[in-house]
Amino acid sequence: MKRINQMEPWVGEEEKEELVKTIESGWITEAGRTKEFERLFANYVGSQYASAVNNGTLSLAIGLMALGIGKGDEVIVPDFTMIASANGVKLAGAEPVLVDIDRQTLCLDVAAAEAAITSKTKAIMPVPLNGRSPDMTGLMILAQKRSIFILEDAAQALGSRCQGKHLGTWGEIGSFSLSTPKVITTGQGGVLVTNNEELYQRIVKIKDFGRRRRSEDYHEILGYNFKFTDIQAALGLAQMKKLEWRVNRKKEMYHLYRELLTDVDQIELIATDLEQASPWFIDILVPAETRDSLISFLDQQGIGSRPFYYAIHTMPPYAYIQGHFPNSEDVAARGIWLPSSTFLTDEDIERVCQEIRQFFRTTSGRK
Ligand SMILES: Cc1ncc(COP(=O)(O)O)c(C=O)c1O
Repeated sequence: MKRINQMEPWVGEEEKEELVKTIESGWITEAGRTKEFERLFANYVGSQYASAVNNGTLSLAIGLMALGIGKGDEVIVPDFTMIASANGVKLAGAEPVLVDIDRQTLCLDVAAAEAAITSKTKAIMPVPLNGRSPDMTGLMILAQKRSIFILEDAAQALGSRCQGKHLGTWGEIGSFSLSTPKVITTGQGGVLVTNNEELYQRIVKIKDFGRRRRSEDYHEILGYNFKFTDIQAALGLAQMKKLEWRVNRKKEMYHLYRELLTDVDQIELIATDLEQASPWFIDILVPAETRDSLISFLDQQGIGSRPFYYAIHTMPPYAYIQGHFPNSEDVAARGIWLPSSTFLTDEDIERVCQEIRQFFRTTSGRK
């Protein structure tokens, strides 16, 4: 029987055609195709400006630099997210301050964020994990009240909204990732979006050595080389045409998994509003003591799955951070990502769910 991986990239003829077109144009560094891609991206999320960069880790650092955040500043980050959220803050020279997540949304707990604000806090970085959002209204009110920036790490949230507003467009800057497992990919890549022209111009300068103007070697600010390429843009342009279909397919897949697993007592499904969220990875929570054996069992049946992220404060680079993170620790120990590639058929999903049901039948039988 064919193996079902947890996630696989999906590129095809359309990407090949766009790549050939770009190569034949004789221009492969960041130029017209990147502009085209940025325009499409900005239109899709409903933002005025978009700027493509190397990846979704650097884009976080670039966003912070554009906001003037660096050494001596603090940025509040949820303790349960991909480690890149916190690393992006470090890369900008600032210090991430970790807070617990809300047990319902698995996103940053707004009250915990408020309690963590100090005189050094310059920004809060909400992470709409798997397309679900924290209380964005509450967060925006808090940020305004305390004069703090919001930089959203929307790496996983392309195609997901909160109250109809695309995630990544709530705060001053939003940051997306185009790495291989994302809903669309350019191999590697990141995109910053903003409605603020001044911030956009700073982002454009930071990613091009701080140049005053393109192709002129007068450097107005400290900048680097974080530019995209038209090769990546070619892939992105083809992928953008598939985006809406994939966003909807992810929702259908989540719905089907939910239907097929809802009566398994040992499984906790995370509340998900499919009108707004398009879960990038299909996720479930199981009893911590069964998690690793379920992953091994599925692997033996030719099905790939992955454990959730570790809570950030439990890993060596951040073990110096003290705090109280019961929700983050709980979900980190219990979560599994199930097969989530959009080319999976309904039959593939039924097979995965049958095997999970079988696992829990035999596990509970042994007790
Ligand atoms: C929440 C989050 N932030 C940041 C990143 C980093 O993005 P990239 O891999 O493009 O650097 C990821 C990547 O998976 C992510 O999931």
